Amino acid sequence: MLKIVVCVSGGGTNLQAIIDAIEAGRITNTEILAVISNNAGAKALERAKNHGICGICMSPKSYPDRESFNQAFTDKMTELAPDIVVLAGFLVRIPPQMVHAFSNRIINIHPSLIPSFCGVGYYGLTVHEKALERGVKVTGATVHFVNEGMDEGPIIAQKAVMIEQGDTPEILQRRVMEQAEWILLPQAIDDIANGRLEIRDNHVYRC
Ligand code: GAR
Repeated sequence: MLKIVVCVSGGGTNLQAIIDAIEAGRITNTEILAVISNNAGAKALERAKNHGICGICMSPKSYPDRESFNQAFTDKMTELAPDIVVLAGFLVRIPPQMVHAFSNRIINIHPSLIPSFCGVGYYGLTVHEKALERGVKVTGATVHFVNEGMDEGPIIAQKAVMIEQGDTPEILQRRVMEQAEWILLPQAIDDIANGRLEIRDNHVYRC
């Protein structure tokens, strides 16, 4: 059984997609140990509670400095001891010591086709604003392993989504979620839970 901890910051629609996929049997051999949010008011925590999943709030704002948050967050994760950490719209940078402790065991969903529209400052709605500003015709989402860089780890899966005339960032965000994110992230978790992925030379292969 793959034990996962899901980290969230806001709405939690990706968390919901994971919960629904587990309940529907589209993700198998997987158990959510806990949901961690950096934001006490996150709707994601409510979603966790509705499904009897333990919700934990840990915000950098409650610590005297970033280093003490980083250590506390890493210690909490070590105590929970998941096989995989899933970043489902988690907008806090993962501490370097945690990346190290969970090497190739943290995955993230990003709302663009990496390496486009990613890196520092590219998160949430901003990603879609930038894609529309640039006038690209295709965007999408990416699931990847997390390394020390920002959105730079080995790519697990990507799915393209067409941009349509008249799109606003909000409309585009919803389409990318519906057509890509809510499909890709559960699929990646199911692939990991069932031993279908392998990392070699910083690349992910299906096996
Ligand atoms: C999602 O679009 C996710 O891809 C994005 O935040 C949103 C969270 O929505 N993540 C990032 O931008 C990470 N760089 P949700 O809380 O409804 O799942």
